[in-house]
Order: sequence, then C-alpha cells, then structure tokens
Amino acid sequence: MESVVAGAIEQLRVAGCVFAEEEAAVLVEAAGADAGLMQALVARRVGGEPLEQVVGYADFCGVRVKLRPGVFVPRVRSELLVRTAAQKPQIATVIDLCCGSGALGLALRNLRPGIDLYATDSDPAAVACAAENLYSTTVLQGNLFDPLPPNLKADILLANVPYVATKHIPFLPAEARDYEPHTALDGGHDGLEIFRAVIEQAGHWLQPGGMLLSEVTEAQTATAVHLIERQGLHPGVHSDEDLGATVVTATRASS
Ligand SMILES: C[S@@+](CC[C@H](N)C(=O)[O-])C[C@H]1O[C@@H](n2cnc3c(N)ncnc32)[C@H](O)[C@@H]1O
Repeated sequence: MESVVAGAIEQLRVAGCVFAEEEAAVLVEAAGADAGLMQALVARRVGGEPLEQVVGYADFCGVRVKLRPGVFVPRVRSELLVRTAAQKPQIATVIDLCCGSGALGLALRNLRPGIDLYATDSDPAAVACAAENLYSTTVLQGNLFDPLPPNLKADILLANVPYVATKHIPFLPAEARDYEPHTALDGGHDGLEIFRAVIEQAGHWLQPGGMLLSEVTEAQTATAVHLIERQGLHPGVHSDEDLGATVVTATRASS
C-alpha cells in the first residue's frame, strides 16, 4: 500500500493538486486497505472530480456531510452563513431552501439542537442526498418554496441559492464547471435572479423577527441590500475576509 500511496501523491501532483499529500491521506482513509479501490479513487480525482464527491463526504462546519456525484459540494466559506444564523437567540423552525446536500441545515442543527428543520431543493439527486444527511427532517423536492406546507413560518431561512452570474460560469474552476450541475451555480444575468425570486416571497415565510440569510459576492451586496429593503425587510451584511465570504440578512420586523 505504501508504494500505492507514494504513486498517488505523484499522480495528484502532476495533475496539479496543490495539497497532494493531504488529498492522498483522505483517499487512503476512504479506500482502507484496498489498493485497487485506492487506484480507482485516485484516477477519478486525477480526472478532475472534486475530492469530496470522490470520497463521498465533506467535512463542513463541524459535521461530516455525505455527498454523491452531481451534488453541490458545500463550501468552507458558507460557515459564515451558518454561524451567523446560530447567533439568533430564539430558533424553533428553520427552512433550508435550495438545500443541496443539506449541509447548512445539518451544521445549524449541530450548533442548535432541537430545531424543527424543513429542507427543499429542485434537484432529485440533491433531495436524496439531503434526506440521507438530515434524518428525521422533512426534505421536499420542488421549485423554491412551492413544496413547503403553506402555513409554515420560520425563525431562520437559510437560502444559499445559486449566485454566479451566467457570464462568469465559464471562468469557474473545472471541478465546479464539470462536476456540479449548472443549476446549482447559475444565478442568471447578474447572479441575483434566484435571490430576487426568494426575497420577494421571504416575508410570507418568516415569523415576525425571523431572518433570511444568503451568501452573495461583494459586488452583489449593494443590489441585494436594495432588494431586501424594497420588500420592507431590515437588511444586514456580514463579511469574513479569511473565509472570503459575504452574507446578507433580511429580518422581518417583530410585530
Ligand atoms: C449553491 S447550491 C447550495 C446548496 C447548499 N445550500 C449548500 O450551501 O451546500 C444551490 C442549490 O440550489 C438548488 N436550486 C437551484 N435552483 C433551484 C430552484 N429554483 N428551486 C429549488 N432549488 C434550486 C440546486 O439544485 C442546488 O442544490
């Protein structure tokens, strides 16, 4: 196995993996003592598939999230969104909209046990993956809020929706461009088209005092804040330079 590992490191390096030794260690953990499996996993990684999809999991914000090919890989920067949500004093009901693997809801529930969680996504592969991660949670398939019970009101609405402008998709790293569905990435002409649809409906789904959180780019922040204000919601902006993350919040007034 030692020579297989040394060979793997070399192949990963040649393929351009900056953290070849660390990645080889993750692949060894996934393959166990099976040298044949190790070679198969290395071949997939060298072919460009994201490491997390190859090994079938991602470690995110204190939880291990199961993944499968074709499902969006949770990004480290999204920890800011989860940690910002977790600061809210009273959280009973949470909606994880556009949930992908369910990583955000799972991580928030780990920080705030006992919450009542609802998750939705339009992609059947994502819904199946989220259902596996979010045991004892209602995971529903459909467009945005459509599949949710109509009278549901949330204290927290996690909305990490696609926000890459269509014209920027060709410039994404190949891992994302080739192995994640474009429906998980493409936010339309300015990247905010799905956010617009969400914010227009957010007031209905939030409890008084409830808060929506969405990740955006720095360049999108001013427009996102304007859209939030236009809906009569109170905007907030949170940034973390180390994570390279910006999160906008939209809070419904407490009546
Ligand atoms: C950027 S990914 C985020 C996934 C997850 N929230 C995370 O942070 O790891 C966006 C997700 O939105 C889903 N999606 C895109 N358009 C949607 C729509 N109109 N309705 C519901 N889900 C949608 C995609 O399938 C994808 O899983």
